[in-house]
Amino acid sequence: MPEIAPTAGLPPHCGDLWPRRGVGLAQRAAQFIGIDAVQLTCSGTAALVIALTTLYRRTGRRTVVVPAYTCPLVALAVAHCGLRLRLCDLAPDSIDMDAQALARLCNHDTLAVVVTHLGGRVADVGAALAVARAVGAHVIEDAAQALGARSDGRSVGLAGDAGFFSLAVGKGLTTFEGGILVTRNEDLRAEFARVAAELAPFQLAWELKRCLQLLGYHLAYRPTLLGLAYGMPLRRALRAGDLVAAVGDDFSSAIPMHALGAWRQSVAANAFARLPGFLADCAAQAQRGRQRLAQIDGVEVLHDAVGAQGTWPFLMLRLPSEARRDAILRELWSAGLGVSRLFIHALPDYAYLRKLVGEHEVPNARAFAACTLTVSNSPWLDEVSLEKILEVFERHAVKRR
Ligand SMILES: Cc1ncc(COP(=O)(O)O)c(C=O)c1O
Repeated sequence: MPEIAPTAGLPPHCGDLWPRRGVGLAQRAAQFIGIDAVQLTCSGTAALVIALTTLYRRTGRRTVVVPAYTCPLVALAVAHCGLRLRLCDLAPDSIDMDAQALARLCNHDTLAVVVTHLGGRVADVGAALAVARAVGAHVIEDAAQALGARSDGRSVGLAGDAGFFSLAVGKGLTTFEGGILVTRNEDLRAEFARVAAELAPFQLAWELKRCLQLLGYHLAYRPTLLGLAYGMPLRRALRAGDLVAAVGDDFSSAIPMHALGAWRQSVAANAFARLPGFLADCAAQAQRGRQRLAQIDGVEVLHDAVGAQGTWPFLMLRLPSEARRDAILRELWSAGLGVSRLFIHALPDYAYLRKLVGEHEVPNARAFAACTLTVSNSPWLDEVSLEKILEVFERHAVKRR
C-alpha cells in the first residue's frame, strides 16, 4: 500500500548523488539564509551542542531555558553539555513561551534561551530577546524544522545570537542527518568553527554509516517503498501502544559528534537548486489544505503572524479536546495518509527524560501535546487522500452553537 510521508521532504533525484564541483553546501546555505558564512554540523542537535559549549566557555553561565514542548533532543543536548535545564511553559494556545514565566526563569546564571520555530511556524523571537537581554543571556533560535522560514523578509535564525537548522530525514533538504549553525556575529562564528573542529572531528565510521543511510533514503523515499521503511515500524509501534516510538521520539542520550562529510554535502548542494521552488509549492499547497481544514468546526490550523512566512513540512492542527484528537487519530494515524503527531509529550512526561528534566507544572505545554496532530504537506498528498482525511475530520467535527 502506498504510504504518504508525514512531512514534506524535498524529493531526492538520483542526479544529486553524483559528486559535482562548484558552489558547495556551506556557501549555498549561507546565500539562501542571507549571511556571510555558516557552520555545517552532523545534526541540528550537534549544532546546539556547539553553540551552547561556545557560549558557556565565553560566559561561565550554566542554565539553559527551553520551551517545555519541544524535541527531546534539545533537552539531551543541554545535558550533553553538562548544563542545567529549565523548562518554560508555553503561552496558552501558542507555540511561544509564556513571557512572564520566561522572565521568572531567567537570571544572572542564564546562558541561553532557546526559542523554537516549531514545525516551521515562526516564533516570537523579539519577546524572548527582551527578557534574555535584561539578564545578559543569549538567545538561540531552534529553526530545526524551519529552513526557508522568513520573518519580515529575513531568514529565521538571525534575530537571536545564534540559530540552527536541521538537515535530518524528512526535513526539506537532507543529508540524512546534518545541521547548519548560524550567527551574525563574526567572532562568535569563528569560535563556533574552532569548537566544531574540536568537538566534532571527521569520523570515518560515522560518515560511512550516514552515507549508506542517505543512499537508502534515496531508494526508499517514494510512496511505494515508504510503507516498508516508515509505515511498518509505525504500525508495529502503534499496535504495541508505544506512541513515543511511533513518532521516533525515543532518542539515545549519546549524541553523535562528528563532521559532515564531503559527499553528503555535495548531495545536498545539488538538491539545493530545487529547494526554493519546492518550499513555494509547499506553501501554496499548505494554504489550500489550511483553507479546507479550517472550515471544519473545532479545527484550528496553526499559522504565522502577519509579516512572517514559515515553512510547511505539515499542517499543525489543534482540536478542542484530547478525546476528539484521539478519535481522529484512531482512524487516520495508521492509514498511510500522512496524519501523525509531533512530539508526543511535554518534556517532563517522557519516562526516559524524567531524571534529567524533573517534575514541572507546564499545563499549556501539556495541553498542546494533548490536543494537536499533524497532517502531512508532502507533495504525495493528492486530492483523493486529502478528501479521505477531511471526511474523517468532518465526522468528528464540533457543531457550532
Ligand atoms: C524542534 C527541534 N529541535 C531540534 C531538533 C534536532 O535536530 P536534529 O534531528 O537534526 O538533531 C529537532 C529534530 O527534529 C527538532 O524538531
